[in-house]
Amino acid sequence: MKNNIVLIGFMGSGKTTVGEALAQELSYGFLDTDQYIEKKEQMTISQIFAEKGETYFRGVETSSLQELVSDLEGTIISSGGGLPLRPENAKLLKQLGFTIYLKASQETVWERLKEDTTRPLLQCENPQKKIQDLLDYRDPIYEVGAHMVVSVDDKSVEEIAGEILRNYEMMVKPQVD
Ligand code: S3P
Repeated sequence: MKNNIVLIGFMGSGKTTVGEALAQELSYGFLDTDQYIEKKEQMTISQIFAEKGETYFRGVETSSLQELVSDLEGTIISSGGGLPLRPENAKLLKQLGFTIYLKASQETVWERLKEDTTRPLLQCENPQKKIQDLLDYRDPIYEVGAHMVVSVDDKSVEEIAGEILRNYEMMVKPQVD
């Protein structure tokens, strides 16, 4: 397995915040796939959805992942919430490194994202129901796509990062003797 940690999970589950904390702790690089796509396309995620549509965005997600998979090492990767949904992407994510599902409840996601305007999928009439519907569909896919599942409800960033680091060090990190 490559020397990377990949965080997957729903919008608002803390992939970026926890990822940055892990990168700091391990002195690893940090890469957020949404930021990578925004740079590549010279547009925000909201603009891509509005002007080119979700199908186009999903295509860019897959091609970005294919670009990244060959040369990332020593990096924490925070992946967009929809990235593991395509089976070919889920396979690539697992090849990229130790993959962790940050599992959040509907209530946690809603609490964190109720004022957010940057997630196009949640700019709808009933975002609370939309979160529940998407979670019902996605949760089993995230579970299967991960080497490890960490529940994030009611935990601090430090607690979540600590849990991940203990497991990563035990299960994956190359040992130097
Ligand atoms: C999406 C999640 C977003 C972003 C886009 C679509 C999704 O990323 O890729 O808005 O389908 O769940 P975050 O999970 O980083 O918010």
